[in-house]
Amino acid sequence: MPRKALIAANWKMYKTPGQAQSFMDTFLPLVAGHTRDEIALFPSPVLLPTVVSAAEGANVAVGAQNMHFAAEGAYTGETSVLQLKAVGATHTLIGHSERRQYFAESDAIVNKKLHTALQHGVVPIVCVGEVLEEREAGHTGAVLKTQIAGAFAGIAPGAATPIVVAYEPVWAIGTGRTATPEIAAEAHHILRAEVARLLGAEVAAAMRILYGGSVKPENATALLAQDEIDGALVGGASLKSDSFAAIVQY
Ligand code: 13P
Repeated sequence: MPRKALIAANWKMYKTPGQAQSFMDTFLPLVAGHTRDEIALFPSPVLLPTVVSAAEGANVAVGAQNMHFAAEGAYTGETSVLQLKAVGATHTLIGHSERRQYFAESDAIVNKKLHTALQHGVVPIVCVGEVLEEREAGHTGAVLKTQIAGAFAGIAPGAATPIVVAYEPVWAIGTGRTATPEIAAEAHHILRAEVARLLGAEVAAAMRILYGGSVKPENATALLAQDEIDGALVGGASLKSDSFAAIVQY
């Protein structure tokens, strides 16, 4: 079975509800009838009701950028999986590098969140990637293996089917410096081999691994032409409906 590509927009901490509505008004007609790839949008929690309501009946899924590992509780400022599901989120990012860098998210926390997402039937996109110093020191493979093994601890092969992985080299995020298709494919190959070691060849062969880091309409085709690259997680270039639609139609 070929893996169906997933083209995902991470809006980060951008847009008001009005701006999100304007995006949806112009974006949905641009991608109407597009069935080759799955499309998903990841807005801030405060935008979810607007985006979910606009996407109703459309070929676009909506997810969260983050969630807490507890289903509910005294965690001021956090959002739970139950809350996200109740407003219509079907997916969530987990362990984005900005969460790791600015909010001290460890592999252990990523692991707890992954268990919670799977228990509650939310599609998790687990983000991994090395920082520049790690790449330059030749540690990329070791870093990626540690992140994947940490994230997947205690996950049974039978439960892993919904998991999506996103390779986002930190040095390529928001820098305009994209990994070449070959560099990205090499990292994806390492990740898939580690998934195979942990969960078996069958799970690894079916798992989608997305690339993220300065994906734009101009480089999307070359990146997505790689067999190892099963989609894109797009930041900056996903904020405008025409540029994100162009990436969807790579
Ligand atoms: P940019 O596309 O802005 O580099 O962001 C990538 C990213 O972090 C997506 O999650």
